[in-house]
Amino acid sequence: MSAPKTAGFSPRFPASNFGVVKLYNLDHVGIAVNDLDVAIADYFDRYGVEPNHRQVVVDQGVEEAMIPIGGSFVQLLGALSPHTPVGRFLERKGEGLHHIAYAVLDIDEALAHLAARGARLIDEFPRVGGSGARIAFVHPSDLAGTLIELVEHPDG
Ligand code: CO
Repeated sequence: MSAPKTAGFSPRFPASNFGVVKLYNLDHVGIAVNDLDVAIADYFDRYGVEPNHRQVVVDQGVEEAMIPIGGSFVQLLGALSPHTPVGRFLERKGEGLHHIAYAVLDIDEALAHLAARGARLIDEFPRVGGSGARIAFVHPSDLAGTLIELVEHPDG
């Protein structure tokens, strides 16, 4: 059974500081990598952690591997071709931090709030991400040069 989507709905994530947009977890950190297999092997070599999920997301032009760390994930992102957003990112900047994803209780509410504040949204409306979650991106020029992804999980 999924928990009700109300303030403080999860004992793991008390509503102490989740703000008006109801960010309740640092969901994942997306890191663009040149070679997904190499990056996975290096993470294992250095830190002894491994992905528990790996999948191609054609829509986003990526193959992603999710490494659980605490209640969050490191999301390693390989580009399916140079002509994808992550492919162009790698071309321009090389490997590195690509985006930060916050879990939100209600992505529609979050986007409406951000739009009302004049935030520069990449996605005005949510789309369906790799794991079936609803996601939306906010442009890095909006705040502190950081591409932000909002994630609403189907089960909260
Ligand atoms: Co992501």
